[in-house]
Amino acid sequence: MAAETPNIPLLTPYKLGKFDLSHRVVLAPLTRQRSYGNVPQPHAILYYSQRTSKGGLLIAEATGVSDTAQGYPETPGIWTREQVEAWKPIVDAVHAKGGIFFCQIWHVGRVSNQGFQPNGQAPISSTDKPLMPQVRANGIDVAQFTPPRRLRTDEIPQIVNDFRLAARNAIEAGFDGVEIHGAHGYLIDQFMKDEVNDRTDQYGGSLENRCRFALEVVEAVANEIGADRVGIRLSPFADYMESGDSNPKALGLHMAESLNKYGILYCHMVEPRMKTVWEKSKCPNSLLPMRKAFKGNFLVAGGYDREDGINAIAENRADLVVYGRLFLANPDLPKRFKLNAPLNKYDRETFYILDPIVGYTDYPFLEDMAA
Ligand SMILES: Cc1cc2nc3c(=O)[nH]c(=O)nc-3n(C[C@H](O)[C@H](O)[C@H](O)COP(=O)(O)O)c2cc1C
Repeated sequence: MAAETPNIPLLTPYKLGKFDLSHRVVLAPLTRQRSYGNVPQPHAILYYSQRTSKGGLLIAEATGVSDTAQGYPETPGIWTREQVEAWKPIVDAVHAKGGIFFCQIWHVGRVSNQGFQPNGQAPISSTDKPLMPQVRANGIDVAQFTPPRRLRTDEIPQIVNDFRLAARNAIEAGFDGVEIHGAHGYLIDQFMKDEVNDRTDQYGGSLENRCRFALEVVEAVANEIGADRVGIRLSPFADYMESGDSNPKALGLHMAESLNKYGILYCHMVEPRMKTVWEKSKCPNSLLPMRKAFKGNFLVAGGYDREDGINAIAENRADLVVYGRLFLANPDLPKRFKLNAPLNKYDRETFYILDPIVGYTDYPFLEDMAA
């Protein structure tokens, strides 16, 4: 067993608004596709509580805001009474261990097909430009997308309202707050990025116009549950799902500056090196300008290991560091970082399978390995 190292910056306490965190290691939102019929399942109680530490922040997997929000099999929602009730014991389990739990609220937009949509209708988006079929994470299956229907200007307030209601439901389910999913080529990103958004109304064209939908969602959600419970995730540099932008730095900066007006709890940005969700690449860009421009708490994610996370905190590049794949495979990640202990390797093959245990709650804890 590795010896305990002196307290590393990553494991120092932090006051995130009204939440007293005991360390800076955050569980990333991780889609797991085990919420059958879009209803969170009892097996998620074990999954999330395994990854809870006293004073640790967890962000739940992306959770649909409405019946048009879905684009992957068996992902959870938070728009029905049944879904809200099903989240409650999961949230309670995280709280029982002293964790702070945010729900990531999500609309996939055009990253969908009619099989996921009510009455087989076309998915909705900022555009009617279709997506090319994409190989799924398992490297075998190919996801097919139905050409989207461009939202009319007068329909947009309804979608903003869906996010507002989802946030209200999340609070009712017991979550401490919500993270608005504005990253990775999903609906909000489809408005922000100029590779996708080809609108001519007040939601398209200029940078201000393309960010309008995102900011309307932020404002509505903040008004509903309080800005001190709201975060947003953005990936200006990513071009996942054909959602690149011709000037990602300007986009990231504009969002960071505009968000200041709403006084939200945090801005969570994905590192430019994660141009696609999967691969870390060498990249000259940095989130530092956005970190400096945003007045609230700044979270970073994407390709972090222990060393990199320590440096990010020590150099004040971030307030908190968000870990995806490493936390998925190491339920006791903060403890392993503390001890500088070896890490379990993640198994990509089991990321998106539907099993309630395999690749989900069967990664060993340090104690199990010692025994
Ligand atoms: C299995 C899996 C599921 C993911 N699901 C989501 C998600 O629901 N919402 C989201 O914003 N990002 C999602 N991501 C991206 C992660 O949150 C994270 O940004 C990415 O894995 C890079 O961080 P890492 O290098 O620490 O893994 C997912 C990534 C993986 C591997």
